[in-house]
Amino acid sequence: MIRPAPPTGPEDPAGPYDSTGSTDSPPGSAAARPSRARRGESVRFAVTHSLPAFVRGVPAPRPAIGALLGAVGQPRWSAATLRALRDRYHGAPVLLGGASGDTLVLLDPADVEEFFARPVRELALDAVDKTKMLAVLEPTGVICSHGDLREERRSLNDEVLAHHEDTHPSHGTFRTVIAEECTRLTAGPTLTFARLRRTVQRIARRIVLGDQAAGDEELHGWLLTLRKEGNWGALRRGPTAADQRLYTAATDRLHVYAPHAPDTTLLGRARDTACGADVDAVGQAHHWMLALDTIAPIAARTLLLLAAHPAEQAALHDQSGGFDSTRLQACVMESLRLYPIVPDLLRILRADTTWRGRPYPAGTHVLVPIGFLQRDSGLVPGGSLFAPGRWCAEGAERDRRMAPFSHGEGRCPGDRLGLMAATEVCAQVLREHRVVGGRPRLDPHRPLPGALNASGVQLALARS
Ligand code: HEM
Repeated sequence: MIRPAPPTGPEDPAGPYDSTGSTDSPPGSAAARPSRARRGESVRFAVTHSLPAFVRGVPAPRPAIGALLGAVGQPRWSAATLRALRDRYHGAPVLLGGASGDTLVLLDPADVEEFFARPVRELALDAVDKTKMLAVLEPTGVICSHGDLREERRSLNDEVLAHHEDTHPSHGTFRTVIAEECTRLTAGPTLTFARLRRTVQRIARRIVLGDQAAGDEELHGWLLTLRKEGNWGALRRGPTAADQRLYTAATDRLHVYAPHAPDTTLLGRARDTACGADVDAVGQAHHWMLALDTIAPIAARTLLLLAAHPAEQAALHDQSGGFDSTRLQACVMESLRLYPIVPDLLRILRADTTWRGRPYPAGTHVLVPIGFLQRDSGLVPGGSLFAPGRWCAEGAERDRRMAPFSHGEGRCPGDRLGLMAATEVCAQVLREHRVVGGRPRLDPHRPLPGALNASGVQLALARS
């Protein structure tokens, strides 16, 4: 519910916030105030959760830092911090202070449900630090906008990515591209992440831009450099002159490809979709390339998990020699639940609002640490175990406790395309081979590690 924020002033020295951490006031009463975490709790959250996410790198994860943080146990520290906040505030939303302003952290399933239900006009995706980061690599992307412009960009994305259809109209073409590119994955007894990444980059270029761009590693290099620069975005006032030159070079290259992109490609579909000039149809391709590149780490982790769970791998092949793609899709979803691409769903309030009867001003950030919640055994049984069967249950994809693609109006419009591509890449490896081992070694009888650095993954293959 949107309401004007109550006045704060000298007669209310604490402002609208209860800095004692009390959650006693009945929601909706005049005395109801948000629960504000103590300074020490905000610092602990920054040190164990936000800062590690920043140094790990968001648009361009830094493998060495990710490995180091995993080795020292950072995912456990972060989970312990969130659990402590939930216990102390009895699951109520808690307001934490930070360098970019206040963030309301949601830890209760009912609040998460509400988060997904609220309209993005009110709870917008273009949070301050996220926008500063994306301003470097996709300044006209849908995530970086709100209001009418966002709706227009979103509807172009929905159309191009066929978000509301079960199967993308170019499904057949994309599957052929993936099959052609993946032949090299099984050429030797070892599959390294580097080979998987190169293969996925070619797939991304062919799906987004067409065969004309299959070998354009220069463009990919520019995009990767921009993503690395984007890692620093939150600390900068805006993109540097060098970032802007690189962004212009990459965008010019996209415009060279656009007139010749086949109708089946994402760029061809964007070119042929009517939209306003502000929407920047071609500029959306920066995000599509970024998103498709994530298929490499997703496939690496899924295959490694299957190496550690031979019975799950065997279940992909039925008695008659057929291959169960639906089951493999469940394995991909389970790998994404355990190791999400977007572990923190961050939004910003665009109007003064109440939440559980307590007032919050426009500009407050709202965070759902979904990576923590969807692994929490109290909410999702066997949260730290690989149990793909849970995704075969009726309605599992709509289950708000698990959200690898988010839910509601902010749900990923490339969900089906991304899931299809990740599943197909894994299927190309598994149809005629088994993954018989891999590094790092995973113990299927113990809770899985909180982080799995994809660039260190190596898989041992044997012919079935
Ligand atoms: C396969 C793995 C993928 C995963 C796990 C994934 C996940 C997500 C998530 C969680 C969000 C919401 C982000 C937020 O709330 O901040 C999102 C947004 C988005 N994704 Fe994906 N995605 C994937 C693939 C793709 C693909 C293949 C495309 C397009 C080619 C795509 C395009 C987008 C776009 C345009 C948005 C922004 C939506 C908006 O602002 O409304 N994604 N994705």
